[in-house]
Amino acid sequence: MSKNNKPTYINITQAAPINEPERQYYFIEQLKDYVISIEQEYKRKPTACITTFGCQMNARDSEKLVGILVTAGYTMIEDENADFTLYNTCTVRDHANQRVYGRLGKLKHYKKKNPQMKIGLCGCMMQEDTVIEKIKQSYHFVDLIFGTHNIFKFAELLLAMHYSDEMVIDIWQDTDQIVEDLPVERKYPFKSGINIMFGCNNFCTYCIVPYVRGRERSRPADEIINEVKRLVADGVIEIMLLGQNVNSYGLENRSDGTLDSVTFPDLLREVEQIEGLKRIRFMTSHPKDLSDELIKVMQESTKICRHLHLPLQAGSSRILELMNRGYTKEDYIELVAKIRKAMPDISITTDIIVGFPSETEADFDETVDVVRKVKFDNAFTFIYSKRTGTPAAAMTGQVPEEEVKRNFDRLLKEVQIQARAQIGRLCGEVHPVLVEEENSQDSGMLNGRLSNNSIVHFAGDTSLVGQIVDVKLDEAKGFYYIGSKP
Ligand code: 5AD
Ligand code: SF4
Repeated sequence: MSKNNKPTYINITQAAPINEPERQYYFIEQLKDYVISIEQEYKRKPTACITTFGCQMNARDSEKLVGILVTAGYTMIEDENADFTLYNTCTVRDHANQRVYGRLGKLKHYKKKNPQMKIGLCGCMMQEDTVIEKIKQSYHFVDLIFGTHNIFKFAELLLAMHYSDEMVIDIWQDTDQIVEDLPVERKYPFKSGINIMFGCNNFCTYCIVPYVRGRERSRPADEIINEVKRLVADGVIEIMLLGQNVNSYGLENRSDGTLDSVTFPDLLREVEQIEGLKRIRFMTSHPKDLSDELIKVMQESTKICRHLHLPLQAGSSRILELMNRGYTKEDYIELVAKIRKAMPDISITTDIIVGFPSETEADFDETVDVVRKVKFDNAFTFIYSKRTGTPAAAMTGQVPEEEVKRNFDRLLKEVQIQARAQIGRLCGEVHPVLVEEENSQDSGMLNGRLSNNSIVHFAGDTSLVGQIVDVKLDEAKGFYYIGSKP
C-alpha cells in the first residue's frame, strides 16, 4: 500500500476495542494488512531485527516484541540492516547507554542507503527524560520510541509509526496495568522465562531500576500457573521465574487491587506440581528477603535447580548501609551458611559493585574477604556507574578511577581463583544436563547446562537439543566443564 491510499490511523483507533489485550489483537490484524501491502510492493516480506541489551527481563520482553512482529508477518533476521530495527535498551550502567548511542550511528548509515527503513528504541533507557531529549535533538532518524510500561502496546505503536511521518514517542511514567496473553516467540522451544512481577521497591541508592521500571507489581498466582501450564503443553521443560526481587513476590498490593496470601515459596510449591515441567529457576533474589521458608521449599523440591543468584554488591557493612541494601556483611555470610547447610551442593553466584562513593581500601578488603569466605561459583563484577537522579549520584567521595580499576582487577582475580576451585568440585561425576544448542565454534559439540547453572560442552548429536541427558564431567575449565556421554 502506498502512502496515498493508506487508511488513516484515526479510523483504526476509533474502531479499536478499549480493553486489553483485545485491543492489541485488533492492531495485530491491522498490521497483517500492512505487511501484506509491503510484501506486494517489495515482492518479499518485510524484515525486522531486535537487538537486546541488559538483563533477563529485557530478553523476555524481546521475546514478546518478536512474537508480535512474527504474528504480523515480518521475517526476523539477525542483520540490523533490516526494514525495521529495534533496540531494546538497558540503562543500569552508563556504559550501556553509550553503546546504544554508538550503534545508532551505524543505523543512520543504513537508513541513508534505504530511506524506507524504520528505526525504533524501547526499554529502560527510554524512561529517562534526558535520553528522550537527546534523541529528539540529535537522532532525528529514529521513528519510534516507547518505554518499559507500555510494551504491550507494541502492535498499536508500530502501526502508528508506519502511518506517521514524525517520530512517534509514547513514554509512560508508571503503570499498575499488567497486560499478558499476547503472542510470544521464544528463543528456545524447551525453556522459557516468565514474568512473575514487575518493578522494584528497594531503592538501592546506586540503582536506576526503580525509576525506570516503576513500583513492584506481582501477577496473580493463578495467571502465572496457567501460563506455565500452557508453556509446558507447548514443550517447555525448564522455566525461569523472573522479577527484580522475586523474594518479595506477592507482598505488595496486586495489580488487580486484591492482596492474596500467595508468597514466593507458595508459588514455587504450586509450580512444582505442574506435570511435565522438569526444572525451575528464578532470578533475582534479594538477600534481605530470602526466607527460611524459601530455603525449605528449595531443599524439598526435586525440580528447583541448585543455583541461587544472590547479589552481594559490597562486603563492607558501612557501604551496604549507604547502598540501602538492608543487610550487613555478617548477615550475608550467615545466610549463605544457612543455605549451604540445607543444600550442600548448591551453587551461589553474585553481583558486586566496585567503587561505590566513599569506598576505602579497608571497605574493599571486606568485599574480597566475603568472596574468599563464601566461595562464589561466579561473580559478575561491575564498576560503579553514577546514575543521575539516584541518591548515590549526589554522595561525596566518588572514588578515583585508577583506584577503582586496581580494585576491580584484584577482585576479578580473586573471583576467578574461587570460581575455579568451586566449579572443579563436580569433576569425575555424572550429572543430568539440559542440552541447549550446538556449540557455535565446534560442530559435533553440544552446550548443556547443569542444575547448578554451570555450562558443559560435550560431543553429541543435535537431536539431543532440548533433552535432559546424563553427562560425565571430565574436566573443569575456568567457568565451564568438558564432559562426555557416560
Ligand atoms: N553501577 C554499577 N553497577 C550497578 N548495578 C546496578 N546499578 C549499578 C550502578 N549504578 C549492578 C548491580 C545489580 C546488577 C544488575 O547491576 O550489581 O545487581
Ligand atoms: Fe536495583 Fe536494588 Fe531493585 Fe536490584 S533490588 S533492581 S539493585 S534497586
